[in-house]
Amino acid sequence: MRRKMCGIAGYIGDKKAPIILFEMLKRLEYRGYDSAGIACISKGRIIVSKDKGRVDDVRKKINFKKVPASVGIAHNRWATHGIPSHENSHPHQDCSKNFAVVHNGIIENYKDLKEELLQLGHKFRSGTDTEVIPHLIEEFYKEKKNFEYSFVNAIRKLRGSFAIAAISSNESDRILVARKESPLMIGIGKGENFIASDMPAIIPYTRNVIVLDDFDYGILGRDSVQLKDIQTGDELKRDIQRVSWGLEEARKEGYEHFMLKEIFEEPDAVRNALKGADEAERIASKLAEYKRIYLVACGTASYAGMVGRYLLERFGISADAITASEFRYSTINILDEKTAVILISQSGETADTIASAKGAREKGAYLAAVVNVVGSTLTRISDDVIYTYSGPEIAVASTKAYIGQLVSLTLIALFLAMERERITREYTNEILDDLNGIPDKIQSILHEEREIKRLAQRLARKNIFFYIGRRLGYPTALEGALKIKEISYVHAEAYPAGELKHGPLALLEKGVPVIAITPNDDLLEKMESNIEEAKARGATILTVGESGELNVPITDSLLTPITYIVPLHLLAYYISTAKGFDPDKPRNLAKSVTVE
Ligand code: AGP
Repeated sequence: MRRKMCGIAGYIGDKKAPIILFEMLKRLEYRGYDSAGIACISKGRIIVSKDKGRVDDVRKKINFKKVPASVGIAHNRWATHGIPSHENSHPHQDCSKNFAVVHNGIIENYKDLKEELLQLGHKFRSGTDTEVIPHLIEEFYKEKKNFEYSFVNAIRKLRGSFAIAAISSNESDRILVARKESPLMIGIGKGENFIASDMPAIIPYTRNVIVLDDFDYGILGRDSVQLKDIQTGDELKRDIQRVSWGLEEARKEGYEHFMLKEIFEEPDAVRNALKGADEAERIASKLAEYKRIYLVACGTASYAGMVGRYLLERFGISADAITASEFRYSTINILDEKTAVILISQSGETADTIASAKGAREKGAYLAAVVNVVGSTLTRISDDVIYTYSGPEIAVASTKAYIGQLVSLTLIALFLAMERERITREYTNEILDDLNGIPDKIQSILHEEREIKRLAQRLARKNIFFYIGRRLGYPTALEGALKIKEISYVHAEAYPAGELKHGPLALLEKGVPVIAITPNDDLLEKMESNIEEAKARGATILTVGESGELNVPITDSLLTPITYIVPLHLLAYYISTAKGFDPDKPRNLAKSVTVE
């Protein structure tokens, strides 16, 4: 199931809908926070208040005290199609403004549907995929003047994933909802009912919840909930669950921390980043025109950049990966219009990375950005953008976003190598097939969670860690070391394994843990002799590999950075919790370093 992160909510009852809806949105804000909006039925009309920005910003836009309304829907957006703006924020309406819709998911066939509706004379106000839904409802409404009939027929035309809520000023005693792949649940109250993407928005009002299944649709009244099958229209029976979770626990969907939840979203992070394949191919064809390529980023993103460099070099393509805070003051001096710069950033707001982009732009370089947050500053400076679609990453320590960056950079490297005729289309397709199999390989690593937790508890008292790797294993070692440093506050060094004997070996002594990245490739023997060197000094060796203490399923050597980091993310997380720290909020650090 592809996980999309926006938040939708709805209320029908006898209380003031706007107040309840804004409260519900606040509790969904962690799911998406680049725009928000609500639509309520008041005196036979639909009133909409929406805008770019946080829930509190939108709440200030309209004084709902003057708008008596007891039915409404609401939405927090995590942009995927169309940058954050007033027009692109939900709810969306049809031409007549008799309908309003909120949606979480991706309508894959929206371009065709939009074309059909434009031919029928519909006018669109946004660049979103969602806006086709209210216009479809409006079109079908002409046939029978029936909201449910129009809603179901509109939904049946959609391909892709959706959690939808819709209201109509023609039939103001109901909210219609539907679900396919994106989460949606109903809260059953007394004389009132609620809908939401997630428990946190519902449990302050009721703990009686129905979780909708794929292809369910529902008709919510104040005192009634009817569920039917989208495809057949048959009535459905769904159990009412009694929810015991607390609010905070619900936001983490039962995980103890956001970081653990986000590590368990890493299979989805691969699936979501693969949606950028067409964009990667387009960007690669532009990159092929440039002599010099730099991959520029900070922190974890810079290690993804190093992986990109090694992949390009594997295909005989020259590239350099440089930390943004160095690039902007030195490498910037040798840039020209024959240079391409690939900037990598989860937030798209990192000061050094943005400064590097601006400097490179002044030198006439071509800028391509690999970013998670849609519409962020870096995306507006760059010539092209490939989104990782990882969803909001709440924990300060980056995990699923790193996985998304690796997938995006692997796609770019493959298509660029193909463009430069270093590899064939067949080989590229083979690797793309392997990429499609990576989510299951990550899932199998996540099933080893208990063993990794036990190993972490054994290592929790160590006061230094060494990570060693070669070639693609070296950035993996760097990322593994950074994760331990930033959430467990323990010193961890990452080295190219070949460097040990040039000094670091002097630091090894009995019991020092050395984590060796040992993919089964042409450098395995070299790694094994480095391991022997370390073992001879009494080090405790932990290998990450196909038969390692940290076990990883067989993976094409090009894709090992994606799978080999997963056990190291889990290891760092469990060492942090074993030491009694909160991995989500590490001391001294911020999620996005917007200052230099
Ligand atoms: C990663 O765990 C850290 N939180 C940090 O190194 C981060 O990767 C770095 O600040 C870059 O952030 P960005 O990807 O948002 O640009």
